Amino acid sequence: MRVLVTGGAGYIGSHVCVELLNAGHEVIIFDSFINSDLGVPDRISSIVGKSPLTVKADLRDRAALDDCFSTHRPDAVIHFAALKSIGESVTNPLSYYDVNVVGTIDLLGCMKRYDCNLLVFSSSATVYGQPESCPIDEQAPVSATNPYGRTKLFVEQIINDAKVADPRLFAINLRYFNPVGAHQSGLIGESPSGTPNNLVPFVAQVAAGLRPRVSVFGDDYATPDGTGVRDYIHVSDLATAHVLALEQLPQLSDLQAMNLGTGRGHSVLEVIATFADISGRPIEYQIAQRRPGDVAECWADPMLALTRLGWRARFDLEQMCKDAWRWQLGSGNGEERT
Ligand code: NAD
Ligand code: WQD
Repeated sequence: MRVLVTGGAGYIGSHVCVELLNAGHEVIIFDSFINSDLGVPDRISSIVGKSPLTVKADLRDRAALDDCFSTHRPDAVIHFAALKSIGESVTNPLSYYDVNVVGTIDLLGCMKRYDCNLLVFSSSATVYGQPESCPIDEQAPVSATNPYGRTKLFVEQIINDAKVADPRLFAINLRYFNPVGAHQSGLIGESPSGTPNNLVPFVAQVAAGLRPRVSVFGDDYATPDGTGVRDYIHVSDLATAHVLALEQLPQLSDLQAMNLGTGRGHSVLEVIATFADISGRPIEYQIAQRRPGDVAECWADPMLALTRLGWRARFDLEQMCKDAWRWQLGSGNGEERT
C-alpha cells in the first residue's frame, strides 16, 4: 500500500514509518515539523535502507493537503499529526481544537475527495478519564478532563460518524496507553523540547545528569507502593500493531476502538528502580504532591488486539528503559555516547 503518514516525523509516527517500510509499503510523511526534526526522514532511511517521501506542510493548509493527495494518491492514511501537551491544551485550547479536530476534518474531506478509504487514528487511553477499575477494556465509559483529551474524544466520534455515513470508509481508533522507549538502532526516539512532562524522558535526563532529581507525584495512592501505576508500552510494539491494523482494516470495521497496551501496570518507583538498574546510574527522587488530574492506576485489557489482530506486546519494562537510555545517550543528551 501507499500510506500517507501525517505526523510521520514525530515520536510514534517515525517508528511506524520504519515498520511500514520494513513490511514493504510505500510511505509519504506529511509533517509540519513543528515538533520534530528535519533529519528524521533520513534517519528512517538509514534504519530501513529505503526512503519515505516527505511533504513538509501543515495539516490545516488545505491546498498543500489536496496537492499531496493529488500527487501521491495514497491508498491509506495513518493520522498522528496533532498537538499533545495536556498543560498547553488548557492554556491554548483553540489551537488544540484547530489542529487536532479541524485538521482531522480537513483530512477526512480530502480522503473522501480522493477516494482514499482506509484510516488508522492515534487516540489515547486519556479518553478513559478517571477509570472506574483496571484493567480497562474498550467498553469502559469515556470522558475527558482537559481540552487535549476532548480533542481525542471528539475525533473518535467524528471518525465513527463518518464510517456510518460512508460504508466504504474503514477506520479504527487506536487507544495508546503510555508509549516509551526508542528504536533499537538508537537513531530515532522521543525528543521532548524543554522540561519533559512524561516520566520516562524525565528519568532518562536525571540518569544522564541533566537534572538533579525526579519528583514522584504522590506516594499515597491506593496502589501497592502508593505511587501511580501505568501501562508502559514500547514504541516499537505500538508500531507493529499499526501495520497489522492497517493491513486488516476491512475485517475490523465492526470495531470503533482498540486498546494498545501490555496489560501490565508498573509504578513510578518501579520505573525509577528499573532505569537506575539498566543505566547503572543513581536516580535521585523526592516525593512531591500529587499532580492535578492524575489517576492512581491506568492499565489496559489488551485482549481485543490479541484476538482481532493477533498482536501482543513483546518488550518488557527493562527493554523499554534500555532503549530509552541508548537514545538518551546517543542523541547527545547524556554524558556518554554509544
Ligand atoms: P509528536 O509530537 O512526536 O508527533 C506529532 C507529529 O505531528 C510531529 O512530528 C509534529 O511536527 C506533527 N504535527 C503537529 N501538528 C501538525 C500540523 N498541524 N500539521 C502537520 N504536522 C503536524 O507526538 P507523538 O508522541 O508521536 O504522538 C503522535 C500521536 O499519538 C498524536 O496524535 C498523539 O496525540 C497521540 N498519542 C501520543 C501519546 C504519547 O504519550 N506520546 C499517547 C497517546 C496518543
Ligand atoms: C506517568 C506516571 C505520574 C512525571 C500522559 C498523558 C496521556 C498520554 C500519555 C497522550 C504518573 C508520574 C510523571 C514526573 C511522576 N498522552 N510522574 N513524575 O500522565 O500517565 O499519561 O502521557 O495521549 O494522555 O496524560 O504519563 O509519563 O506523565 O506519568 O511521578 O515527573 O508518572 O504522576 O503516575 P500519564 P506520565
